[in-house]
Amino acid sequence: MAISPDLVKQLEEKRKVALLAGGADKLAERKKKGLMSARERLEAFFESGTFMEFGMHAQHQCHEFGLEEKVFPGDGVVTGIGTIDGHPVAAYSQDFTVGGGSLGAMHAKKVCDLLDYAIKAGMPVVGVNDSGGARIQEGDAALSGYGQIFFRNVLLSGVVPQISIIAGPCAGGAAYSPALTDFIIMTKSNAQMFICGPEVIKAATGQTVTMNDIGSAAAHATVSGNIHFVAEDELHALQIARKILSFIPSNNVMDPPHHPTPNVTLDLDPAMDELIPADSKTPIDVLKVIARLVDAGDFLEVQRDFAKNIVVGWGRIEGIVVGIIANQPAVKAGTLDIDASDKASRFIRFCNIFNIPIVNLVDVPGFLPGMAQERGGIIRHGAKLLFAYAASTVPKITIIMRKAYGGAYLAMCSADMGADMVFAWPTAEIAVMGADGAVKILFKREVAAATDPKKKEKELVAEYREKFCSPYEAAGKAMITDVILPSQTRGIVAMALRNTLSKRETRPPKKHGNIPL
Ligand code: HXC
Repeated sequence: MAISPDLVKQLEEKRKVALLAGGADKLAERKKKGLMSARERLEAFFESGTFMEFGMHAQHQCHEFGLEEKVFPGDGVVTGIGTIDGHPVAAYSQDFTVGGGSLGAMHAKKVCDLLDYAIKAGMPVVGVNDSGGARIQEGDAALSGYGQIFFRNVLLSGVVPQISIIAGPCAGGAAYSPALTDFIIMTKSNAQMFICGPEVIKAATGQTVTMNDIGSAAAHATVSGNIHFVAEDELHALQIARKILSFIPSNNVMDPPHHPTPNVTLDLDPAMDELIPADSKTPIDVLKVIARLVDAGDFLEVQRDFAKNIVVGWGRIEGIVVGIIANQPAVKAGTLDIDASDKASRFIRFCNIFNIPIVNLVDVPGFLPGMAQERGGIIRHGAKLLFAYAASTVPKITIIMRKAYGGAYLAMCSADMGADMVFAWPTAEIAVMGADGAVKILFKREVAAATDPKKKEKELVAEYREKFCSPYEAAGKAMITDVILPSQTRGIVAMALRNTLSKRETRPPKKHGNIPL
């Protein structure tokens, strides 16, 4: 037999060395800090026993700069495939115990090989980032490695979903790889992501900032909007990645994992009617509407802490996966601003790429007025939303709950912007502008001449609202499919989804449109 005991022993020993990564001491040190090893993450991520490692024995021998000869087992990254919900997924996990997870030429080749494999086989990629950046000893070879990864991140974009987890340092140019992927999950502690750290900022600008100010999960989730989910720890980050994968397909030619119920139930949900406050000025909490709309209230909100005036995320309606985009009247009155436009546009484009139908819940008084918005480019950013909706060819269903005024009505996907079906609640107000504003412009003189101007203005507002903002006005002009009760919404949206899933829309061929960036 060719497989002698010596050969078996040799293989076992080689594997032992590889699995020991940066050494027992370094692995123990991580454990003490409550951190997982690179391999532990992947074992925990995939279905039990399915992880198949690629390139366990690959390593770079470092002889540069007269340093003592140093071996980097696995070259600081563990790569391979495994299954989630029975579907293959590619993943890599940077190994901080090996040269601080720094990226050398072999490390980059392993990641690139995995990305090449993922695009060939049409599977999602999940990358765990935990690295000191370009390996200084390897100089421009390391820089080139990053370039090769960035190039592939772009190549894969729109073909297979890419999810990044930041579970350690991710600094300088290295941060651009996760930034090129679809979703970023960041752990609350031990993770930092920044282009220029506090010392560089101090030296260049004199400004004193802390790492928390610029690089923490909290800063990126609430202020910069660079990340999409905050995780308690690495295990939680991996759970979030799995939850994302439960709603999305493996690639752009597959359907999302729909689990359609055999029959659509058209049962009324009276509690939905009760969610609408009697006073039209009292905001609806749209999260409560979403919780009633989706199956078992199971909604995965994306970028929950950023631009809270718009809510985006996935759920299922009678088993059909949907991306929901909803104005949140409880925050900034649900107005659209720069951040809300960016957040929603990117989410719409993700859903469109991966064949996920879109459901829009509209209660929007308009774009947020103000100097900061105008000078910050709300025209350019708001245009992204118009562009994203109009360019999307997936089924688009819009529910107008209350206000739908002016440009914001169009920007939330009216029929004119390509919605396949538009339903309005009896409380909907569809108008070129709100009744109060319209009366101020149109009836200024009449109000001024009245003996009781306040009373006159109130009467005119009520009259204008009834005549020009009523959903029946819009229905009369065939701008909407139907007026429905909130209690009917779930059943009707479920039916609408079944009836639009087979939709095919063709557009003129072009390289790509020029979305205002
Ligand atoms: C080589 C590195 C390294 C790197 C860390 N190490 N970063 N080796 N190249 N970039 C090594 C350390 O020498 C050490 O090796 C081990 O990893 C652990 O690092 P420590 O410093 O002991 O750990 P810690 O105190 O936790 O600090 C982690 C750190 C720090 C914050 C990441 O190591 C650090 O600041 N590293 C340099 C980061 C950096 O400047 N990167 C930018 C590189 S240029 P031993 O053998 O002692 O265990 C770049 C440009 C890319 O990335 C551009 C792409 C477009």
